[in-house]
Amino acid sequence: MSRLREHLSFARVYSTILITSGLVFVVLVSIFLSFSISEVITLTILAAFFIIAALYYIGEKRLKEINQLKTIIDSIRNNRYKSADEIKLSKRLIELEGDIKLMFMRTQNDIANLKKLEHVRTEFLGNVSHELRTPIFAIQGYLETLLNGAINDDEVNINFLSKANLHTIRLNNLLNDLIDISMIESGQMRMSFRYFKVKDFLENMANEMRPLADNKNLEIAVHPIRGKLELFGDKDRLRQVITNLLSNAIKYTDEGKVEIIVQEQSKTAKIIIKDSGLGLAENDRERVFERFYRVDKNRSKAAGGTGLGLAIVKHIIEAHNSRVEVESTPNVGSEFSFVLKK
Ligand SMILES: Nc1ncnc2c1ncn2[C@@H]1O[C@H](COP(=O)(O)OP(=O)(O)OP(=O)(O)O)[C@@H](O)[C@H]1O
Ligand SMILES: [Mg+2]
Repeated sequence: MSRLREHLSFARVYSTILITSGLVFVVLVSIFLSFSISEVITLTILAAFFIIAALYYIGEKRLKEINQLKTIIDSIRNNRYKSADEIKLSKRLIELEGDIKLMFMRTQNDIANLKKLEHVRTEFLGNVSHELRTPIFAIQGYLETLLNGAINDDEVNINFLSKANLHTIRLNNLLNDLIDISMIESGQMRMSFRYFKVKDFLENMANEMRPLADNKNLEIAVHPIRGKLELFGDKDRLRQVITNLLSNAIKYTDEGKVEIIVQEQSKTAKIIIKDSGLGLAENDRERVFERFYRVDKNRSKAAGGTGLGLAIVKHIIEAHNSRVEVESTPNVGSEFSFVLKK
């Protein structure tokens, strides 16, 4: 009896329409065939039986379908499905099955992305703490040694102080890079795009970096650039890009030269920073734009690097709707380039 009630209650939405149609049927048939009262009563009872049987059948079907849906929702909630193919509904619900599968895949995707983000965040925090700890420990070490008496030792005091000073500069650089990265990634970095003269810009940059190159006996060669060539971009941010690329080219080159080349096309121009240095193996080439990635940690660290330079370069160039390309051969040299609009 309770089963009957349950099934009927699941078919409730259909009861009004079935009862109304049944009544209309009984009335019309009775009028057409001029039924007597007893015939009308018999027909009504028959129709009622039919309606109850139909409602029972519909209710049973709906109950089965709703139970299937409940099981699926329950399984999704309890992470029981490995893939969307395990989600199966009866033939009549095939469209719904497709929608549920889509929803399942989207949720799986979102979860995977969240996990990846969480991993990146943890890794980033780990890297930041590590990078901060190194200079802080060094500064602490020098200061303690000085306080413990080395301050009076004229042979080391200035040396220790200037080393501590170098580490504070490193800390400052690291913090500036971190602020840049977080501003860019949170979309807070305001860009100001204008046309600017490329020749003056790049020649000035080469002059600024020349002392660094001179220290390593490297030449910085600027290939001829058309005096009137103007490109569209954020000059201050591009200054940061070129500084990073040139300082890398100098840092990771032992002999030869660093070249600045501008290749003009009809609507764009490509800026290339080329060196004759260490070069990059293929798997490093793909990874150098990752935050904190350094091919040779010791070498980069000795040069004061934290591995954030190229990550910032990539972001800034992408904000110009462009991409940084890298071509490189180990022990021959590297070429970093990007295209800007004329
Ligand atoms: N021109 C280059 N030639 C060879 N290797 C390079 C060159 N530029 C970058 N690399 C490699 O890519 C790594 C990442 O470069 P990136 O500029 O991001 O960091 P960094 O120079 O180590 O430190 P930072 O720029 O933050 O001071 C470097 O550590 C270096 O190993
Ligand atoms: Mg760098």
